[in-house]
Amino acid sequence: MKINVKNKFYLALCLAISFYSCKQEKNESEKEKTPASTVQKVEEKEMEKKPKTSIWDPTAETPEGLNLDIPLSKNELFAYLKEGKYRDFETQEKELHPSLGPHQKLNLPVKVFINDVLAKSLDDKNAEHPKGSVIVKEMYDENESPMGWAVMVKTSDKTDGGKGWFWYEVTSNDNPDDIAAMGNGVVGCYSCHGIGRDMVRTEYPFKN
Ligand code: HEC
Repeated sequence: MKINVKNKFYLALCLAISFYSCKQEKNESEKEKTPASTVQKVEEKEMEKKPKTSIWDPTAETPEGLNLDIPLSKNELFAYLKEGKYRDFETQEKELHPSLGPHQKLNLPVKVFINDVLAKSLDDKNAEHPKGSVIVKEMYDENESPMGWAVMVKTSDKTDGGKGWFWYEVTSNDNPDDIAAMGNGVVGCYSCHGIGRDMVRTEYPFKN
């Protein structure tokens, strides 16, 4: 083919067009890539900052300086339970009863202790129990050896869907770190206790 001036012009035009469109495409794909990867990096950073939450984590602050019948800090509370100080509560079961709750395993023996504030409130059939209500449940294994405690303490007069209760469960009699849950508003606990009398599920007055 003879390349005359006209053809040269078309050839140059063609090259220019294809070069231009190729550059455009590259820009497009870079435009798409950059924001996506940036978003991903930001998300990864956020994940690193936020530890994974579970239904056994507290969802509300535990108020401080309440001066209740029972301490609420981890080691003090464990020492209090270990010493059996709640056994001074007048309202207590005389014998173990097989638990209806799934704490550990269904039907394992438990024994419940209720402080005066809560006993009075249950007697009065209050819809919400007052601040300072305490209930302690001793948990035992198949051989009736002690294996931990479940505790509920009202830290405010308002129940606030479960946030006004402090929830605690330890699954050992000698290791204060074997905590199943500890703090106010533990969803895993109150979601099951919601059908109780302001969260209290034990049969009251006691059968034994
Ligand atoms: C799937 C249901 C369920 C879940 C989850 C649950 N409980 Fe219970 N809990 C019960 C039942 C039922 C009873 C009554 C047991 C009985 O006396 O036979 C009970 C009893 C108790 C008692 C004795 C006072 C009462 O309400 O009768 C305490 C204290 C307690 N639970 C604390 C907790 C804590 C703390 C958690 C979370 C770590 C928790 N529970 C999670 C069902 C549940």
